[in-house]
Amino acid sequence: MPHRIAVIPGDGIGPEVAKVGVRLLERLGLPLQFEWFDFGAERYLKDGTILPRGFLDTLRRDFDAVYFGAVGDPRVPGNEHAKGILLAMRFELDLYINLRPCILIDDRLSPLKGKGRNELRFTVLRENTEGLYTGTGGVFKKGTADEVAQEVEINTRKGVSRICEAAFAFAERRGLARVCMADKANVLLHGHGLWRRAFADTAQRHPAIQAKAMYVDALAMDLIRQPEAYDVIVTNNLFGDILTDLGAALTGGLGLAASGNINPGRVSLFEPVHGSAPDIAGQGKANPIAMALTGALMLEHLGYPQEANRLTAAVEAQVRDGAHTPDLVPLLGGTAATTDQVADELYKRL
Ligand code: NAD
Ligand code: IPM
Ligand code: MN
Repeated sequence: MPHRIAVIPGDGIGPEVAKVGVRLLERLGLPLQFEWFDFGAERYLKDGTILPRGFLDTLRRDFDAVYFGAVGDPRVPGNEHAKGILLAMRFELDLYINLRPCILIDDRLSPLKGKGRNELRFTVLRENTEGLYTGTGGVFKKGTADEVAQEVEINTRKGVSRICEAAFAFAERRGLARVCMADKANVLLHGHGLWRRAFADTAQRHPAIQAKAMYVDALAMDLIRQPEAYDVIVTNNLFGDILTDLGAALTGGLGLAASGNINPGRVSLFEPVHGSAPDIAGQGKANPIAMALTGALMLEHLGYPQEANRLTAAVEAQVRDGAHTPDLVPLLGGTAATTDQVADELYKRL
């Protein structure tokens, strides 16, 4: 039976990079069957569809993975379709692990003096189903001088424990020594007190791994000062969102940053960390490498570690010796190539 993969290119540069990603994955000769879906701003503006009724059940029943470009379009300023597509899949499919490797491919991509491939190689596991992202809360007396707005952070023992457990299990699988949990327990006593307790309980079950809890502000600083002190970082939904853009900037930028939204053994969603980049959409400037590396994460999830390594190795060689898109020119020098030129070279390498 082939693996069935739902491709949702989405908006802006999403379709430009999704096309490349699928072409590279097809080159590997694996039993993968791709089906394309047109959800995104265009479809939403045309007929009001965000995700059709029953689509999530279809994913659960018939698909192994979703390969996702990006959503976000200036014509939908409230971003409601993006929440309805991306966050709905994260929540409804219970994709509780947002896996975001921040691993430097080439020393020239590092913005930090003296920090290269040996120093910049941490992975963030971001809690992906609760925290400040659930939409719990409300607005009272909207638009008046007395307006009250409340955004409630949800932290459940089950939700926090399972992402902590996933972080330790990840470290063990990869032979990594250290797991750091980032919170703001000095101020958010209730919710992040729960994180401290759940993290300590989980750490006790993994005595061979060094466990450390840190305040997120101190961690943000330390990731610039000594990134080599971190192997695995586990944190809540919002802090993980912020720290992984920081992690992307430390490792070559959003054009290279890949991610998985994972529930082990179930249909899971793979997307680059970047958004739809409306500022460069349609100009052949999008870096397809984040999407390619995202494909490698998906292959690992599907049980093809060797092919994932092949794809990753081709990307690394491309960054070292090949053409690159404009986002990498300040870091690598040379002249800018187009998305398709980079894609063609990558294809040949495979
Ligand atoms: P963005 O990631 O789209 O872009 C930020 C900057 O990085 C831009 O200057 C862009 O040109 C550049 N960039 C991003 N990806 C690139 C790539 N592959 N190659 C070269 N340059 C790249 O973030 P934003 O501008 O804050 O958001 C734009 C839209 O995307 C918004 O609607 C936002 O909500 C949405 N968004 C969606 C996702 C997602 O679908 N997962 C993630 C983040 C943002
Ligand atoms: C990300 C994005 C999303 C998030 C947005 C688009 C909802 O920034 O995947 O990092 O905040 O999780
Ligand atoms: Mn983000």
